[in-house]
Amino acid sequence: MSRPRLFSGMQPSASSLHLGNYAGALLQWREMQTTHDAVFCVVDLHAITVPQDPAELRERTRRTAAQYIAAGIDPEHSTLFVQSHVRAHAELAWVLNTITGFGEASRMTQFKDKSARSGTDAASVGLFTYPILQAADILLYDAAVVPVGEDQRQHIELTRDLAARFNSRFGDTLVVPEVRILKETAKIYDLQNPGSKMSKSGESPAGILWMLDDDKALTKKIKSAVTDSDGVVRYDPELKPGVSNLLSILAILSGRPVAEVETDFDGLQYGALKGAVAEAVVEEFRPIRARTLELLDDPAELDRLLAINAGRAEEIADATLRRVYDAVGF
Ligand code: ADP
Ligand code: NA
Repeated sequence: MSRPRLFSGMQPSASSLHLGNYAGALLQWREMQTTHDAVFCVVDLHAITVPQDPAELRERTRRTAAQYIAAGIDPEHSTLFVQSHVRAHAELAWVLNTITGFGEASRMTQFKDKSARSGTDAASVGLFTYPILQAADILLYDAAVVPVGEDQRQHIELTRDLAARFNSRFGDTLVVPEVRILKETAKIYDLQNPGSKMSKSGESPAGILWMLDDDKALTKKIKSAVTDSDGVVRYDPELKPGVSNLLSILAILSGRPVAEVETDFDGLQYGALKGAVAEAVVEEFRPIRARTLELLDDPAELDRLLAINAGRAEEIADATLRRVYDAVGF
């Protein structure tokens, strides 16, 4: 029996992924790849919707791919490729642009958020049409399942609307995907600002646990994580966001319920909690970091893996694009 097709991806917008990307995406992808025909993409076309440095982008793309593999995405079993290696993404995005309403695109809240800083005059049209490219990514692979964070729900709804509209206008051509919201319990917060999610673009460098940080750096950041002054280890995200974040991290990495982890620290101080979290994160990331560096040390082998995977992706994507081209009259 064939497994349902799954598509997901991340932008190569930093040279390392962080604990949030690991817990909120990679860990769950790794699990889902065993039950799905999984396609994982490094979405570098999306990364140029804001100004980029070309050499840096090239490097970040390779490093992101290497981290997917090092974290357990199996390039033999799943399809793991770089978006710009498969031309059909840009081509399908163009066709979808022509069936998207301007008003419909204008309602996407992520553009409003992302362009708020620069102002809409400075933002690129590429940033504006980003959700349409994302729809193309998903629809090219006939994905049945798209696991994303809650913040991406609106884009997946747009993808579903575009697929259904295309089908009603041109005949049954595209698969309408299901949204699958990733476990909210896997959300990780910034260690210095536990009210905000850990993000590649976070403001405090000490608040982000990078997958490629060394043991010492990870430990130091965790030991200086912001907590509170009441001294009781208790899970209460509202009143005790710092301590709760540390408990969540431990729960996720040990695969245990947070309530159970909490009882381990009955009567203990924050120092004990931080020590346990530091040990867990260091142990988790050490082999991943080593494997990533090994992959990056052998560029020919990484290129070979990415080329084979891009070939597999292209076969699926080109067949979909052919159907779309036939349907619209090309
Ligand atoms: P970033 O904010 O670091 O740029 P992205 O928005 O590119 O992260 O998200 C990439 C993937 O990682 C998404 O699947 C997202 O849900 C997940 N993710 C990002 N940050 C976190 C976090 N702090 N906690 C849990 N998951 C996260
Ligand atoms: Na982001």
